Amino acid sequence: MELFDSHCHLTAEQFDADRDAVIQRAMDAGVTRILTLATDVSSSRAAIALAEKFDAVFCAIGIHPESVAKAATRDLRLIRELAAHPKVVALGEIGLDFYWDKTTADLQQKFFEQQLELAAELNLPVCIHDRDAHDKLIATLENFAPAPPRGALHAFSGDAALAQRAFDLGYVVSFGGPITFKNNKTAPALLNALPLEKILIETDAPYLTPHPWRGKRNEPAYVKLVAQQIATARGLSVAQVAAQTTHNALELFRLKGQ
Ligand code: NI
Repeated sequence: MELFDSHCHLTAEQFDADRDAVIQRAMDAGVTRILTLATDVSSSRAAIALAEKFDAVFCAIGIHPESVAKAATRDLRLIRELAAHPKVVALGEIGLDFYWDKTTADLQQKFFEQQLELAAELNLPVCIHDRDAHDKLIATLENFAPAPPRGALHAFSGDAALAQRAFDLGYVVSFGGPITFKNNKTAPALLNALPLEKILIETDAPYLTPHPWRGKRNEPAYVKLVAQQIATARGLSVAQVAAQTTHNALELFRLKGQ
């Protein structure tokens, strides 16, 4: 079985004590590829360094919406330079977050649009963060002319209608730990309704830890629990879900043959 954790943060300080062991545990659990996401310039540099060290690790670099207040305009120039590295396969995570901070909404929008433009110019897909910003975010993509760069909506928290608008733009949606939570009543029907060819799996480690480890630190090995949840909802085997979601990720990040 080959699993692809399409979104995590391996450079987070929560992994400082045992990062190599965490990556080894993931490989032992069948996770053959991991995409680690940056949130600012310094974590972008760290993500590239980590990807250089491990064949299985690839990275997405960029300015996270929660990082825009501390970001400078020149940071986008640095991201552009860093994106030339062969293990940078996407820009991310980028997007809008009106849950943690509404006061930076205009600045978030500016960085989001500029990074979409950069991704389009560099011909890279994007990994998008959307928290309490569904309408604004999907409208930004729909209004992006002539077409937005391809991408994934990570930790998807919308409904089937929002997912359809994303699919119409050529996007995929990515699911993580929250679909395994016992109080998530809507996940099974949604997971059953969406086409499996449009779904990625992720951990968002060290955050959003799936059941039964909720409350503890998350790590990429647990992406199998996410695959298991989708398999249960759709009446498939974990292996089938792993194969299709890995195929989807390899296609989006243009890693076929790697
Ligand atoms: Ni994330």
